[in-house]
Amino acid sequence: MTPGDSTAVEDEVQTKKSSITPADPCTIVIFGASGDLARRKLIPALYGLAAQNCLARRFAIIGFARTPNTDEAFQKTAVESVKKFADAATLQEKECKEFAQALAYVSGEYHDAQAFEKLKKRLEELDKEHKLNGNRLFYLATPPDVYPGIIEQLDKAGLSKSSNGKSWTRIIIEKPYGRDLASARKLNQAVLKSFDESQVFRIDHYLGKDTVQNLMVLRFGNGIFEPLWNRNYVDHVQITAAETLGVEQRAAFYETAGATRDMIQSHVLQLTSLVAMEPPAAFDATAVRNEKIKVLQSIRPFTPESIKTDVVRGQYGPGTAPGDSSKLAGYLAEPGVAKNSPTETFVVAKLQIDNWRWAGVPFYLRTGKRLPSRLTEIAIQFRRAPHLVFRGQDLSSNALVLNVQPDEGISISFHAKLPGQEMKLKTVTMDFSYQVEFGGGERSAYATLINDCMRGDATLFDRADGVEAAWALVDPILNYFQSHKPKFPNYAAGTWGPHEADELLERDGRHWRNT
Ligand code: BG6
Repeated sequence: MTPGDSTAVEDEVQTKKSSITPADPCTIVIFGASGDLARRKLIPALYGLAAQNCLARRFAIIGFARTPNTDEAFQKTAVESVKKFADAATLQEKECKEFAQALAYVSGEYHDAQAFEKLKKRLEELDKEHKLNGNRLFYLATPPDVYPGIIEQLDKAGLSKSSNGKSWTRIIIEKPYGRDLASARKLNQAVLKSFDESQVFRIDHYLGKDTVQNLMVLRFGNGIFEPLWNRNYVDHVQITAAETLGVEQRAAFYETAGATRDMIQSHVLQLTSLVAMEPPAAFDATAVRNEKIKVLQSIRPFTPESIKTDVVRGQYGPGTAPGDSSKLAGYLAEPGVAKNSPTETFVVAKLQIDNWRWAGVPFYLRTGKRLPSRLTEIAIQFRRAPHLVFRGQDLSSNALVLNVQPDEGISISFHAKLPGQEMKLKTVTMDFSYQVEFGGGERSAYATLINDCMRGDATLFDRADGVEAAWALVDPILNYFQSHKPKFPNYAAGTWGPHEADELLERDGRHWRNT
């Protein structure tokens, strides 16, 4: 794994050791290297890839950030974050040390041409030293306001194009990708002035989760579900992304975002597209993304009238932690939050998808912080049996539930006869658990996505038109929130959100699965 001392033969040995072909040799530049995302997710994910031989034997990682730092100090903090956050199964002292040797650091301001010249020089040196063939992956993990500056400077320094005509140059851009449709468009324009769309990888880490990808396998790798996957059999769909955590130390960002921007526009709409899309012709970037965007374009646009009835927002007040009953502060008392902040920490939205497959089937989306459990699930709730042969039994409808996290798996609920002389029925489930079947804990979504990017596979990344379509959908909600002040807080931390969220479903004769 030591960079710089390898040969083509070693690369070949490496390929044989790994179950999948390692990516090309390359340099990965992380902008925002001293930030939380780099420390908690990116560095551990890159280590995981190296430890599993998914990174080529020859690679280098450059951390770029404003904070002055040395290579050695950066290596030291990187080892600490690997030890703290990497998958324990891959942790080995020797590999960790070798990994650290591949790390270098460049400090500078994100708009400073000189700093980018320094970066360019370092890239050229490392490229030569480790024979990286000029391949470069830039990862934008900074606050989004500096994205345009970085992109412009990369271009000016001649770093946005292939360094030798044969190598590849790619850029991963973190969410939030804009803060509304207008700013996302502007960002797309800035990005596409310097990079070709084929070089741009807009990341949404939910798409790197195994269970999210498994949704496509469940639908399009099996013959039995697809015939049921439509308005004839499905009553409604519930998509929940619930977190127990509060805003933590992220108020500076969260106060400018809120749950709609932070979760609905990205993760939750990604899940919605995957549930609702038509089967793509192939599992490739063009076919999959074409189908996903058609879903977003078919969702009935929100109007102020429909927002009044179909959208509920909330903000947590003080409460108690489920489980240990310890006190939880309300959002307004969190560090960095404005005294009468109107920022929503909870949203429910009812979507209607106006196409042949889904007409009349509501999709209920829900996300929130400080809810009673950490749970991301997609529930396909089927229609009731048309005629009840078993009189006197109050039977729920069948549900197919995809558990995205934390207990990754799929379960189907149906009815079974209780043992005994009487005909009594009970709802039972048939479960598939990732943990039981495949072992291991949650895998790093970032590792999957970085690996895909290094191989040039954009299937699990967003396209320019995809991000814009998602913003177009949430823009009216954001505008409505902006012009209608809420009465916050309206739910206690540790509960399932404001009562209006339950009432929204009750009005339709339905209820949330948890209540
Ligand atoms: C991030 C949001 O994109 O996703 C966070 O900014 C949120 O607010 C996080 O906590 C949730 O990700 P996960 O993988 O923990 O469900």
